[in-house]
Amino acid sequence: MIISVINNKGGTGKTSTSVNLSAAFAAMGFRVLLVDLDAQANASLSLGIPYTELSPSISDVLFDGLPIRSVIRNTGITGLDLITGDLDLVNSDLLLEDISNREMTLGRSFFPVKEDYDFIICDCSPSMSLLSVNALMAADGYIVPMIPEYLSLEGLITTIGTIKRMKKGVGFNRKSIGILFTMVNLNVRSFRRRELILQSKIIKLVREHYGGNIYNTHIIRDVRLSETTSYGKSIFEFAPKSKAAVLYKRLAEEVLDRYEIIKPGKKMSNSRKEEAICVTE
Ligand SMILES: Nc1ncnc2c1ncn2[C@@H]1O[C@H](COP(=O)(O)OP(=O)(O)OP(=O)(O)O)[C@@H](O)[C@H]1O
Ligand SMILES: [Mg+2]
Repeated sequence: MIISVINNKGGTGKTSTSVNLSAAFAAMGFRVLLVDLDAQANASLSLGIPYTELSPSISDVLFDGLPIRSVIRNTGITGLDLITGDLDLVNSDLLLEDISNREMTLGRSFFPVKEDYDFIICDCSPSMSLLSVNALMAADGYIVPMIPEYLSLEGLITTIGTIKRMKKGVGFNRKSIGILFTMVNLNVRSFRRRELILQSKIIKLVREHYGGNIYNTHIIRDVRLSETTSYGKSIFEFAPKSKAAVLYKRLAEEVLDRYEIIKPGKKMSNSRKEEAICVTE
């Protein structure tokens, strides 16, 4: 399945979620391809690719027709492959303009490798560019990370509004949206009481409005998630016993539950026949 991690607000934890969720799935034995769709290439850099070695990247596939297999790299993590992003993605709107069915370009490019992977995870840039629309079109489901702060509410509303409009336009009503709270602060000592109250108010507000679309797992604020990026490692290699590692693993389990996906090597049990949750109009 293809999951796009998207929010047009910047700095909400899209890349951290893409990298660590991909690593969590890989650790469970799934075959995972992480696709960096951001010109900042943060996902690629976070996995230890030096800035000078970002090419060939997804932009060579999208804009120059390079075969997708030729740009897939192994990461140091068993089961996790990567397609890097690079600065050329900045011009994606311009470069995709002349391509027919341009909003399907990314989805089409995945066809040759779709069966090779259990999960393709797209880390989107903080904008609703044509490339992000491509990621929305290609995906079977979305994860929208948000920080429980007032300014993030607007990003959430715009992102979900765009997804809903697009789903309506192309009739993909079964695509599931999952909102993920990130950088949730539990540490009362480092966080003022008023800020904690504000945080709970926002979580409550979003819960009232989007109900079942919200993941039960909240990713807490944990400095090790910032540190891990500079070591080119996932949280599972850098700080396997940290709360952040436990929470990203729990998120991975929740995603599997939501989509009724069985772990490799496990037999089908009498699993919950819970429907994938869709945003209702
Ligand atoms: N749970 C967390 N606790 C502490 N720091 C975090 C957490 N999640 C992410 N960060 C840090 O916050 C910053 C922004 O996170 P990240 O890069 O994942 O967001 P993003 O949504 O991908 O940003 P952009 O919109 O620029 O692509 C990074 O420095 C990251 O290391
Ligand atoms: Mg990012």
